[in-house]
Amino acid sequence: MQDQRKAIAVLTSGGDAAGMNMAIRSVVRSGLARGWDVYGVREGYAGLVAAPAEGKIGKLEARDVGGILGLGGTVLGSARCKDFHEPEIRKRGIDNLAALGIDALVVIGGNGSQTGAHALHEQGLAVVGIASTIDNDLEGSDITLGVDTALNVAVDAVDKLRVTASSHRRASIVEVMGRDSGYIGLAVGVATGAEAIVLPEVDISPDDIAARIASAYDRGKHHAVIIVAEGARHNAQELAAILERDHREEIRFEMRVTVLGHIQRGGTPTVFDRLLGARFGAHAVDCLARGEHGVLVGIRGTEIVTTPLDQVVGRLKPIDLELVELAQMLAQ
Ligand code: F6P
Repeated sequence: MQDQRKAIAVLTSGGDAAGMNMAIRSVVRSGLARGWDVYGVREGYAGLVAAPAEGKIGKLEARDVGGILGLGGTVLGSARCKDFHEPEIRKRGIDNLAALGIDALVVIGGNGSQTGAHALHEQGLAVVGIASTIDNDLEGSDITLGVDTALNVAVDAVDKLRVTASSHRRASIVEVMGRDSGYIGLAVGVATGAEAIVLPEVDISPDDIAARIASAYDRGKHHAVIIVAEGARHNAQELAAILERDHREEIRFEMRVTVLGHIQRGGTPTVFDRLLGARFGAHAVDCLARGEHGVLVGIRGTEIVTTPLDQVVGRLKPIDLELVELAQMLAQ
């Protein structure tokens, strides 16, 4: 069924992710190429529901999204909007769009953002989501927009930490992001050859971690790298304190803790994320053109696919346990 949609809006929501700007550019220019009007919503759902006088929703032309594809973050801004779970607050957003003649919305974001997108869809708005979060924990996409850049930033940082750890014969305990998922920790741990990877999904005791650090020392290594996911049972500081208290003599390495934090979100988008953003954005517009909505745009293998939002929300994509086994085998 052909959809004669004429005006759409795009917003970015939740934690920013490199590649969002490319996705915005792609939505805007794909929409314009169809002769549609395209609007940008500033500051995510908070901007969507703001009073019209605040001017958070504005028309975007091709030149407005020029020169943004290489920028990290999101030029539209993002926010976490606590009120958005209230149906009457969401209705305000739908009304704001309707007042401008906009009848469809593209939501670029992760789990919380797609939960909001699903709720808007249930309230009658035509919504298409684009899978974007550095956590890579969203069902419906093998890899989400922003992951590749965040991993490259984190791996680069850990490589640098290993250099200085090696000079001083230290163990570097590095905390990476991922509130609910250990994906970043796992990927960074494998990519940097960490002695131990501590994840929310796979518990590894401080005793075991101490044994691995001690074994690295015994094998003549000049450093040990321990990657701790943000959502693990003990954060990096707590883990270091436990190791210091209970295993000082055994591990011998001096220890240093680094929390990488938001640096992981601020990278310049890699080629992979730029391509993904371009493809996701164009596909989202294609969906709206053929009347497909209430779906998330993601990637399976090399193919861009859609998944109904009700099969996405409330779930957490599991990490690859084979990769966990590989990491353990290689960290001997
Ligand atoms: O966007 C996902 C994420 O970076 C998580 O990995 C992290 O736990 C969280 O966002 C941090 O959120 P905030 O930017 O609100 O501090």
